[in-house]
Amino acid sequence: MLVFEQKNICVLGGTGFVGQHLVSRLVRDGHHVRILTRHRERHRSLLVLPTVEVIKANIHNENDLNKYFAGQDVIINLVGILNESGNKGKGFQKAHVQLAQKVVQACEHNKVTRLLHMSALNASADPKNVVSHYLHTKGQAEELVHVIKGLDVTSFRPSVIFGPGDSFFNRFYQLLKLTPFVMPLACPNARFAPVYVGDVVSAIVHCLYDARTCDQRYDLCGPKSYTLLQLVKFTASFLPYKRRIIGLPPVLSKLQALIMDFVPGKPFSRDNYRSLQVDSVCKGKFPEIFQLTPSSIEEIVPQYLVNRCERGKFQDYRNHARRK
Ligand SMILES: NC(=O)c1ccc[n+]([C@@H]2O[C@H](COP(=O)([O-])OP(=O)(O)OC[C@H]3O[C@@H](n4cnc5c(N)ncnc54)[C@H](OP(=O)(O)O)[C@@H]3O)[C@@H](O)[C@H]2O)c1
Repeated sequence: MLVFEQKNICVLGGTGFVGQHLVSRLVRDGHHVRILTRHRERHRSLLVLPTVEVIKANIHNENDLNKYFAGQDVIINLVGILNESGNKGKGFQKAHVQLAQKVVQACEHNKVTRLLHMSALNASADPKNVVSHYLHTKGQAEELVHVIKGLDVTSFRPSVIFGPGDSFFNRFYQLLKLTPFVMPLACPNARFAPVYVGDVVSAIVHCLYDARTCDQRYDLCGPKSYTLLQLVKFTASFLPYKRRIIGLPPVLSKLQALIMDFVPGKPFSRDNYRSLQVDSVCKGKFPEIFQLTPSSIEEIVPQYLVNRCERGKFQDYRNHARRK
């Protein structure tokens, strides 16, 4: 039986998509949560939560980490980037590998013995498996945190994560809305097994109470796998108008990535293209230890994309009435 214990938990990346869902759950469960962020003022919704401290800090600075890890029982590192400025992997090294190194050092310094580390499915430190900087640096970070003596680490390796506020279905929804008639889609045959953010959060929370999860790495996938084309068509089905989606062949997909690499905000990049060359699907089922049946996109996505559509309509009415 799992025994609840109130804990002091410091979350890095607690302001992001997964972070916000996780922090709400930790607060509801009665934990004290400390979030370190670069932009405290942007996260008012977190500031109002009871038992949450939102602290402006530079997590790449060892002194800040040493200071704010003091008195914590558990560190949860959710920091991750999908794109960097440039294309040489330096940004990925900093955000994934160098940060992970500093986190374990600050854990040692403060005698924190439990670390929950967010990685990604297909992450690999093996140079033979290197596909993209994203997956390689995620793999290097994972290897690095798991060899530290005296630190109990659990890593999570999810496929794409969905849920309210996600940057997958919501982003494609936005893109489809902006695309006139036909959307050209790179890497249409890449496969994903989208996993619900609520299930990822439940898995993370479970690890706070179950010592059997120490020193384990968990691949996390939803119940079904789909091609990217199927997922984008599914997203398009929530639009009030029709959109055609055309899968691009490999050469044009690569070309699209090359061009998008230079678009501000990098909606798609060469590194993303390389990551998509490996299917993001699990070999087995959702890990039994978490005792949950993972939710499907069909159950959850309509709840937030349909609402988006309704809100969009409402905004159109307001605009029509000149009440912006
Ligand atoms: N979402 C997915 O589909 C998915 C799939 C597989 C794995 N993952 C992994 O899960 C984790 C959470 O994902 P997410 O979707 O919640 O990400 P997210 O919404 O982009 O949030 C990431 C958080 O990390 C912090 N951060 C980002 N870049 C940083 C930098 N250069 N220096 C310092 N802090 C930085 C940000 O915090 P502040 O801005 O507050 O500083 C941000 O809130 C990541 O590690 C990601 O790689 C996500």
